[in-house]
Amino acid sequence: MAIVTIPDENRTIREIEAITEHLASIGIDYERWKPSKEIAPTAEAEEILAAYSDEIEKLKARGGYVTADVIDVNPQTAGLDEMLARFSREHWHDEDEVRFIIHGRGLFHIHPRDGQVTAIEVEAGDLIRVPRGTHHWFNLCSDREIRAIRLFQNPSGWAPSYTESGAEAGYHPVCLGPSYLPAI
Ligand SMILES: [Fe+2]
Repeated sequence: MAIVTIPDENRTIREIEAITEHLASIGIDYERWKPSKEIAPTAEAEEILAAYSDEIEKLKARGGYVTADVIDVNPQTAGLDEMLARFSREHWHDEDEVRFIIHGRGLFHIHPRDGQVTAIEVEAGDLIRVPRGTHHWFNLCSDREIRAIRLFQNPSGWAPSYTESGAEAGYHPVCLGPSYLPAI
């Protein structure tokens, strides 16, 4: 399950109802999905999409999404640093950012127009929908690994537009989940 933090209030939320409620209050949809049958996180993309086809179809109907794919990012991914640098500065898209996490972890920071910055650490089983126009940024956790289903209304609308606010500099992109090992 996701871990939500509101750094400026020194607050961490770990209960699903409280997470869903807080995220809804800043315009972010959050759900937990279970596959229709047991599936390995390393399965082929087609198998992954088939295992979650009911949820994907429901979401497509709800949000006008036309395509779904599976993205794999790991330390061996060519151009990983450049890719991460594009999304770790505050930006928005003209398209919803919809991700269902299959494997690995990642950290979204959401910057509401009238609310506190909220960090959402996502893991396998988490669905997050960041509506178009929402200011946000994204980092991987220290293992730099994530596999996720993406849904698109129009893949060409997904380029980031930068706010150039520098807001991301005030927040540490540190994950709290299993990949975080404190120095002893
Ligand atoms: Fe984004």
